Amino acid sequence: TLPTRVKIIDVGPRDGLQNEKQPVPAEAKIGLVQGLQEAGLREIEVTSFVSPKWVPQMADNAQVMHGIRRQDGVRYSVLTPNLKGFEAAIAAPREEWPDEIVVFGAASEAFSQKNINCSIAESIERFAPVVDAALARGIAVRGAMSCTVGCPYEGEIAPEKVGYLAGLMKGIGVQRVDVADTIGVGTPLKVRRAIEATLAHYGIDAISGHFHDTYGQALSNTLASLEMGVWNFQSSVAGLGGCPYAKGATGNVATEDVVYLLHGMGIDTGIDLDKLIDAGVYISEVLGREPHSRVSKAIRTK
Ligand code: HMG
Ligand code: MG
Repeated sequence: TLPTRVKIIDVGPRDGLQNEKQPVPAEAKIGLVQGLQEAGLREIEVTSFVSPKWVPQMADNAQVMHGIRRQDGVRYSVLTPNLKGFEAAIAAPREEWPDEIVVFGAASEAFSQKNINCSIAESIERFAPVVDAALARGIAVRGAMSCTVGCPYEGEIAPEKVGYLAGLMKGIGVQRVDVADTIGVGTPLKVRRAIEATLAHYGIDAISGHFHDTYGQALSNTLASLEMGVWNFQSSVAGLGGCPYAKGATGNVATEDVVYLLHGMGIDTGIDLDKLIDAGVYISEVLGREPHSRVSKAIRTK
């Protein structure tokens, strides 16, 4: 049976904007977070505390975390690849701390090297003290698992590799994980296998689907996941995004498109689609382009 309710984490401010060549002002990022929470998003991935040499667009992380106007009931998350990033994320007063941090590993060895400059095993060694430090402060911990279906360097990824990574994440205390199709090559059966492999270590409530729409399969993959009982998804308003270390990875599936799918199936998201479309238009105007969302376009040209 399908879930009756779905929670969406909008990753637009982070996954969406990290790959933008043009500098996006912190004010616009803050405005985007505001638009998303006004649209009813209850989880927002705001920024990442990574090396500014690796991802210059996220260099204003502290400024953005300082500038957002927090709303009760909204969970704000940030990426922290190592203790240095975690320390930077909690350098501000407590009220500016993230509610959740995300450590990000990969099911592919080659992608781990390209993205975070270390092996999978080394990444887990680096994450472990970050997880401990976060949990000790009452900050929740999520683990992103990239390339769970395919890798830009290694090609197809076996489900066993996903299960292996999920087990390592569980072993260091990561509370929930994202099954990410970083380059959007997945199709429903492959995505299901990746989720099944994850289910060996995490319950269905602790698994979220993170699909990119590169090959136009993200909604199919979303539906396939829903049928397995997955009810947490990550998507990006206006279809923003792509990972700088995954060439050819286009945006995450557009939140507008996912919301339209879910509402059409009678599944509750708590999101106001019109306001969500406005948030997507807002950031797209900053970027000087149209939102990459079929639903946004269709509704605006109706
Ligand atoms: P490294 O070069 O191996 O790190 O990078 P290092 O420890 O050797 O340090 C080198 C320099 O970086 C030093 O500075 C450090 O202080 C600094 P220097 O002495 O040369 O001036 N440094 C930092 N600065 C700020 N914040 C930090 C930090 N750590 C070290 N946290 C590192 C290793 C992990 C830092 C680097 O590879 C990195 O930042 N990678 C981030 C890549 C990234 O953000 N990728 C995108 C996110 S993942 C993604 O999008 C996929 C996802 O959405 C799921 C999906 O779609 O599949 C999650
Ligand atoms: Mg992504």
